[in-house]
Amino acid sequence: MKNPVELEQWRDLAEHQEKMSRITLREHFANDNQRFDTFQLQAAGIFLDFSKNHITQETHKKLLALAEACDVPAKFNALFSGEIVNTTEQRPALHSALRYQGSEPIMVEGRDVMPDVRDVLKRMGQFTDAVRDGSWTGFTGKPITDVVNIGIGGSDLGPLMAVEALAPFAHERLSIHFVSNVDGSHLVSTLKKVNPETTLFIVASKTFTTQETLTNAQSARSWFLDSDATEADVAKHFAALSTNSEAVSAFGINTDNMFGFWDWVGGRYSLWSAIGLTLALSIGMKRFEQFLSGAYEMDQHAQNAPLATNLPVTLALLTVWYNNFWGAPSHLIAPYDQYLHRFPAYLQQLTMESNGKSVHHDGTPVEMATGPVVWGEPGTNGQHAYFQLVHQGTHLIPTDFIMALESLNPLGIHQELLMANCFAQSEALMMGKNAEELSADMKLSGASDDEIARLSGHRTFQGNRPSNTLLVQQLTPKTLGALIALYEQKVFAEAAIWDINPFDQWGVELGKALAKSIHEEIQGGSTVDKHDASTNGLINRALKMTNLQA
Ligand code: F6P
Repeated sequence: MKNPVELEQWRDLAEHQEKMSRITLREHFANDNQRFDTFQLQAAGIFLDFSKNHITQETHKKLLALAEACDVPAKFNALFSGEIVNTTEQRPALHSALRYQGSEPIMVEGRDVMPDVRDVLKRMGQFTDAVRDGSWTGFTGKPITDVVNIGIGGSDLGPLMAVEALAPFAHERLSIHFVSNVDGSHLVSTLKKVNPETTLFIVASKTFTTQETLTNAQSARSWFLDSDATEADVAKHFAALSTNSEAVSAFGINTDNMFGFWDWVGGRYSLWSAIGLTLALSIGMKRFEQFLSGAYEMDQHAQNAPLATNLPVTLALLTVWYNNFWGAPSHLIAPYDQYLHRFPAYLQQLTMESNGKSVHHDGTPVEMATGPVVWGEPGTNGQHAYFQLVHQGTHLIPTDFIMALESLNPLGIHQELLMANCFAQSEALMMGKNAEELSADMKLSGASDDEIARLSGHRTFQGNRPSNTLLVQQLTPKTLGALIALYEQKVFAEAAIWDINPFDQWGVELGKALAKSIHEEIQGGSTVDKHDASTNGLINRALKMTNLQA
């Protein structure tokens, strides 16, 4: 593909931005009372209001022209049909096959992958039923009460976020725990809460080579064997989710307790595969299937809806618009639903590991910004922490507000207040408060002219800050599936426009290799001198300050 910055559609947008930067969001609304109706979309149970953005119908057309010029529809077709879209690793990225509900075959290297996908889902169903109904027992014959998911990155963040998001649907007897950090405190503090007789460990690792996961799994196994359990009991208490059956059996987990997936499932896209087992244990297989069906509905929309009404493409184009033409390097995710409290963290891996790239597919350097920094916390907490900067700081921070309208825990006026705060934030960000409005307000509360003049600069809000608002009726397995798939496909559409590969992550390799060799040096305990002065200094100081020095 041609370098996107050389496309005439790109240059056209750059020129158009100059004009748009002179019009405020307030003016857009004043000029067009149809704006809310014009800039809204709906798909798979998700409603999007994107009217509070620096766009007109002309902007929208120009953005759509860019998506056309970048072949976004053809790239979606390539993704869904199993073409090699992960060009550096020469493989497809077929997470969509994991939630596919149709009857067509999906081919990888001449073979339909759907029978294998369905077979793993069936085995997951049998296993989760047995654990949930209590017929799967631990080594003393008691039903399982605690599940500990040991994994990191995509083998942790997805299941953790979804188990939290769907907590109201959780099995009553099962407490779910997640251990990811190699910091022993994570495992030790978790093990203090559980009993070896009734704990099931799920070791989740696509590669089964990840240092943190294997170290945690080894220590969990030792803890288990330090109880009255024997080696033969491991089979009742350890299951593995992986693509690497050899490493799973080498670790000592019976492959009968292994749920497999395939190298065409990227780690951060693996929640829909066997990596979703912990979620399925929590909510049951029927609800896990509803979760898959919500994602499938969004996939169908992403692939088939015209660009102009395509939800993920619209969100992607808005990110490109702000990131590349307005110089906004970050993107705030503000879910107004406590159950979505890990959603921003999950989206960080999804978007930043996918689109944190500096070269195009052909290896040539990019000439524009790629993936923005994604961050956030649930509302209303964020309002009392960093929203000050979003309202009055110097950075432009496009924000996605996400609101589940119906609470799963209706309680007095709580939900009304939550909604009111969500809508108030996007209004305040857009409208701001000018000096005249401030002065009128302050006069009403009895302020003198001197005081108004003294505080005017501090208390006026420029406003003009863009946001999207996404509404769902209620946070159910189905709507969560659709919401996650929406962001997955948004990330893909961005990568399609930037002509980068969203499915590799070479950037994490160097740190892993260095950690391995520094670990050997720490174990050796001798003074080191082969690194730069800072790294040598830190290692040597750490050796001196601990009892690790030889
Ligand atoms: O280091 C990054 C990464 O490879 C992620 O992409 C992945 O989700 C995570 O590590 C865990 O990998 P695995 O599931 O193979 O243990």
